[in-house]
Parts: sequence; structure tokens; C-alpha cells
Amino acid sequence: MHQAHPPTPCYLCPICAAPLLNSSAKSYACENNHNFDLAKEGYLNLLPVQFKHSAEPGDNKPMMQARREFLEAGFYEPMAKAVAMMINASQPKHLLDLGCGEGYYSRAIAAHCSNTMMLHGVDIAKFAVAAAAKKQANGRFIVASSNRLPYADQYFDFVLRVFAPSNDDELRRVLKPSGLLLTVTPGPRHLWQLKEFIYADVNEHALDSVVPEGFERIDTQRISYKIAPNPQQRIALLQMTPFAWRANENVQQAIKDVTELKIEIDFILTLMVKAAV
Ligand SMILES: C[S@@+](CC[C@H](N)C(=O)[O-])C[C@H]1O[C@@H](n2cnc3c(N)ncnc32)[C@H](O)[C@@H]1O
Ligand SMILES: [Zn+2]
Repeated sequence: MHQAHPPTPCYLCPICAAPLLNSSAKSYACENNHNFDLAKEGYLNLLPVQFKHSAEPGDNKPMMQARREFLEAGFYEPMAKAVAMMINASQPKHLLDLGCGEGYYSRAIAAHCSNTMMLHGVDIAKFAVAAAAKKQANGRFIVASSNRLPYADQYFDFVLRVFAPSNDDELRRVLKPSGLLLTVTPGPRHLWQLKEFIYADVNEHALDSVVPEGFERIDTQRISYKIAPNPQQRIALLQMTPFAWRANENVQQAIKDVTELKIEIDFILTLMVKAAV
């Protein structure tokens, strides 16, 4: 059984911006009669077709499956645990996993953090959100764009953003005063050995993560280690990256064929607070 969605008007109608209320156990409506039904997996699609810039925005199904397979093998667990610890330290009541994908971090948070927290996830990719909702019945997952978040102003006290795009104005709007933002971004050496197969000259990412306008940095953690994925997992990892499209058949074969491949993992966790205006 999927837990009922929250009674307080947390969602805004994506068409007219009025609060969305439960009109039945399985649907939401605004005062202007715009209706949205919960999907069978328990998520809500708040991305009206007129705001979609492509038929299937975000990660597609094979990308989502590759990501899930790789993440569930535990390669990013040290980072997921560090994220959960940083979240636990502030005991948020309403947390948003922005660009939640298939929900790996949402599940890790639920496993490691206080269960009084209400956990929300949003992503533009419907397949990913459906997969996340299916695995985590007590999470509240929606399909929407981070550029137009259909949440009430100042609804969240914590926003997590792991390798996902966001919009600074929307981040500030949905966070409470003094709300926290935790971002995970690639560190200088992230996936170095994978990139060596693709680029003639590999460049390091900047060590400093970007602090969005209207936020102040409180804490930064760098988490670096090496992993040794098998050939199939290497390809799954490749498919999770923004540079996957550069890897043609030959490159992919070379990545699979090498006998042992140790790959550097390098994350920057940046904890920020919404600045007072
Ligand atoms: C690199 S993935 C990270 C997913 C997840 N946080 C993780 O690390 O497993 C980026 C995610 O952002 C989503 N995304 C891309 N553009 C988006 C947008 N405008 N609004 C919301 N999500 C978006 C993609 O569908 C994808 O799930
Ligand atoms: Zn409406």
C-alpha cells in the first residue's frame, strides 16, 4: 500500500499555480479543476505536456536501469552514507531529493536517517520516478522539472541535489528561511581512468563547487577512493556520465577488454544555508 500523499498543500498546480489538494485517495485537483491522478506506482506526474521540451526528457529507461544496477552494487555507498549523515545532523522534517533519478539516494536516506522525515523526490524522467516510487512506498515522488518546481513556497527545510541540474531561483523559493542545500558534484579526479579512454587530454574538474546565488557555504567534504568494476559495470558507469555519447563501439569495447580497471571516484559534498535577505 502506498502511503497517502501529504494533506497540507505541498503541491502547486503546474498549470495555474493554485494549491493542489487531494480530491480523492488517488488524485489531486486545484480550484480550477485541473486534475492529476496518482500513477499505479504511487507517483504524481506534474509535468504537463506543454512544458515538456522532448517526448522523453531526462534519462531514458536503459540509462535508468544501468544507473540502478551500478549504484545497487554499492560503488557509491560511501558517498550515500556521508550524505545521510549530513542530513541526519540537521533532522529535517521535509526533505527534497532534487533530480532523484531512480531513487538510490532517497532509499539510502530512508535507511540511515530518522523515519519522522517526509521524503520527497522529483525528476523530469518519468521512468526513473516510477522506478523510485515503486521501490519506496513511503516516499513522495513526482515528475516535474527543476526549473518549475510544483511545490509551495518555503515547503522544505532540506534540499539534496546529487549530480543533477537545478535552478537557483526555484531552490531559494522552495526552501524555508535558513533551509539547507546539500550538493554532490564531481571532484577534480572523478572517473579519471574512464575519461582517459575518451579524451586525448583529460582535464580536472575545479575543486571548488559552485555556491548558488543566495546561499552561503557551511561545510565541504571531499570523498575520494578507487573502485574496480567488472566489464559490465564499467559500461553501466559510463552510461551514467554526461560523456557517454562520446564513447563509440570501439571505445566501449576497449573499456570492457582491459583486464583490470581501477577507477578514481572523487566527490565534493557542499553543505549550504539559504542566506537571509
Ligand atoms: C546524473 S542523473 C543523477 C540522478 C541521481 N541523483 C543519481 O545520482 O543517481 C541526473 C538526473 O537529473 C534528471 N534531470 C535532468 N534534467 C532535469 C530537470 N530539468 N528537472 C529535473 N530533473 C532533471 C535526470 O532525469 C536524471 O535523473
Ligand atoms: Zn490549476
